[in-house]
Order: sequence, then C-alpha cells, then structure tokens
Amino acid sequence: MAREESAPDVLVVGGGVIGLAVAWRAAQRGLAVTVLDPAPGGGAVQVAAGMLAPVTELQYNEEPLLRLGMASNERYAAFAAELTELTGLDTGYRATGTLAVALDADDREELRELHAFHGRLGLASEWLTGRECRKLEPMLAPGVRGGLHVAEDHQVDGRRLARALLAAGAAAGVRLHRAEAAELLVTGGRATGVRLADGSTLTAGQLVLAAGCRSHLLAGLPAGVLPPVRPVKGQVLRLRIPPAYAPFLSRNLRAVVRGQHIYLVPRADGELVIGATSEEQGFDTTVTAGGVYELLRDAHELVPGLTELPLVETGAGLRPGSPDNAPLLGPTALPGLTAATGHYRNGVLLTPVTADLIAEQLATGRTPELALPFSPARFSSPEAAR
Ligand code: GLY
Repeated sequence: MAREESAPDVLVVGGGVIGLAVAWRAAQRGLAVTVLDPAPGGGAVQVAAGMLAPVTELQYNEEPLLRLGMASNERYAAFAAELTELTGLDTGYRATGTLAVALDADDREELRELHAFHGRLGLASEWLTGRECRKLEPMLAPGVRGGLHVAEDHQVDGRRLARALLAAGAAAGVRLHRAEAAELLVTGGRATGVRLADGSTLTAGQLVLAAGCRSHLLAGLPAGVLPPVRPVKGQVLRLRIPPAYAPFLSRNLRAVVRGQHIYLVPRADGELVIGATSEEQGFDTTVTAGGVYELLRDAHELVPGLTELPLVETGAGLRPGSPDNAPLLGPTALPGLTAATGHYRNGVLLTPVTADLIAEQLATGRTPELALPFSPARFSSPEAAR
C-alpha cells in the first residue's frame, strides 16, 4: 500500500509512559514518530505509586524479570536527569531506598527467606532488627519485628514522568494524534496502519502496540498475535504530609499484612502514596469503601500516625497483567508490528529499558539480547498453546 506523504516511520498505538518513552527514544534515533492516543500521558501511570523496586518486589521464579528490572533501575537516574535537562521538568525521581518490614513472626520468616534468596542471587539487601528499622523510620509501629533494607530500590513520580516524556517527545519531533485506534490494517501480510473510529486511516512504516491493558482490544489483530493481557485493578490512596510533620517517612515502606502487599511511598513534595489492591474485576475502576478501608487499616498497622494526615485523593488504575507477569517486548508474528505491553506491576520501573530496547529494534531491525526472554512468541508457540 502506498503511504500518504506524511506517514511516519513509526506509529505507536498507546501514549502511556511506555508508548511515550518508546516514541521519544525512537525519535532521538532519527525516526519520524507519531503516538496515537485519545489522552496521551494518561493510563495506569496516573494512579501508580512509582516505586522502582526490582529487589523488594522480587517473586520466586521471576529471575529474568528481575534482570530486566535491575537493568531499568540502573538506567533510571540518568534517564530522569536527561528528561529534566531537556525539558526543565522534574520527574520526582528520588533515591530513597526501600524498607520491607515484618509485623509478626510469620512475616519475619518470609522476609528472612527472601533475604536468603537475595543472597543467592547476589542482590544487595541488609537484614535489620525491629529496633534498627525504627531507628531508620521512627514512625513505624512499635511491633515491627525486623525488616530488609534495600538501598537501591527507589521511586519516581509517575505523573511528573508522563509530563516530562510528553515535553521531551515534542522537543524531539514526536507528533501526537489524539484519537482511539479502532482497527489494525494489514496489507500483504504486514501491519501497515490503523483505522480510527471516524473511519480515517493512519499508515506507518512500523507499528508499536503499547496500549497497556487495552492492547488485546484492537480489532484486526490476527489470532496468533493477540497479546494475552488483562486489566488488574489497583486502588491507591494519596495523603498529604503537612510541613510540620516532615520528615514523616524518609524511604519507601513495604509489608505484607494479612497476605496483602501494602506499600507507602513518600514524595519530596509531601505526597504520601499508599497502594495497592490487586483485583481481577475487568475494566472496572470504581473506588470501593472496602478497598479504601483495607488500605488504611493495613497502612495504619504499619505506621499508626498516618491517620492524622489529610486524605486528598483516592483512585483506581488498571495494570496490564500478562500470564507470566512479564512484559511482551519485541517483534510479533505479524511483520511490521512490535509489542511493548503487558508490563503488569512494573510499567513505571521498566519504562527506560523498554524504550531503549524497542527503539533499538525499530531503528536497526535487530532485537536486543536483553529483550529476547520477553518475546511475544512465548505465548504463541505450540508449548504455550497447550
Ligand atoms: N508495582 C506496584 C503495583 O503494581 O501495585
């Protein structure tokens, strides 16, 4: 199919932080890039706490994801500094470290096992007694039984990050098309563009599918290419730490309370983010009384003094879950279509490395080695289909 004169080299379908960062990095490599999204900079990042925690969020049997997360974490400081230098906008990147604490003997045993696992993998984490934890964070509950200090698990403010990526993309020549993709266009066995809801079409040399938990909804995706993503709801609270209470917390805090993960992320501007529920509710983003109650109840067990703080916002976002909790990165079985989706709990963390890997593939046609374990093909092979 002949492309219209203004057809870009790359059309990124989805303008969350993943799509925006891929577009920015691809434009820096000299490609003409358009991002298609009705509300660029929106999506799950507007709710996310922005914890950059590959070590404290480590799950057993997810070592390839750990390596990808570590690679992204290592890039974050430079990534954030580059964005700020180019745009004058602060991303809220903060090298705070993270403290994961245990509230009872069972939690302590679990954290001890995680600490041993870290040791086997050569990851830096330090075991602290309850007293040592409270010395670092005096607002912690007196009953805290011990914890793990991970000095390299930091944080970024997802909303600020999205604004900086929009500005950096604009400066690099990325064009935004504010509309929803209705259908993928396939010509001669190759992805060539999309049809929009109003019937118009956009064509491009290559397409990137970066539509988060909506990536599988694009009509026209061939069966073997349909990404197996699903929405996983997370409810999140935002409190404000008045200056008189500062420093209320100095680093990210995590715990497992009654089997539920809870985390508190204190930002430099006084925001305290508490997350998150994990619910399989389809595309529902209702904030429920039960969700808010459980988050506050568990956070209060960890830091009793937080009930004094103003509660300024409640929200719910949709993580793009994948069957193995890892993203789909790289070429799909359909020539011309690359996936950058399914980042589940790690979208903000994995933004820098995803952008670098996908931009390299778009510019050179080669898939970088770090991306190979995350090939979308792992879900379309005969083994995956069984
Ligand atoms: N990464 C934290 C969450 O998804 O809740």
